Amino acid sequence: MDKYQDIIDRAFKAAENAYVPYSNYQVGACVLTKDNKYFIGANVENASYGLTNCAERNAIFQAYSNGYRQEDIEAIAIVSNGKTLATPCGACRQVLVELLERHTPIVLSNHKVEKITNIEELLPMSFTKEDLD
Ligand code: THU
Repeated sequence: MDKYQDIIDRAFKAAENAYVPYSNYQVGACVLTKDNKYFIGANVENASYGLTNCAERNAIFQAYSNGYRQEDIEAIAIVSNGKTLATPCGACRQVLVELLERHTPIVLSNHKVEKITNIEELLPMSFTKEDLD
């Protein structure tokens, strides 16, 4: 896990920027690219709750907005200070299956527990662009 300590730390730092007046639950994320660029995200909530953007979506959209694509991404960290690990919500899993390679490490941490997973494990039998071919 030492290998990912840098992106875990950056994700915790990003979580401090979360805008969470409704849940008061801060989440941070950090994408590391293969050429060593970092893209962070925090959750940003809205009074119309469904418009909330999760931390990991904000981080990966930042990477894509800067021209990076799934094959350029080394790993993503997603962190919170909750009692349990903040695993991506269903909507984020669908976004991640589109924008990450199947086995790209997704590193989860809440300071107490750390786990490395990937989108294949989080969203098996997913619906993707291959299904539209
Ligand atoms: N949230 C994230 O940002 N990422 C996750 O992986 C889980 C949930 C946010 C959405 C909302 O702002 C708050 O956490 C509570 O659901």
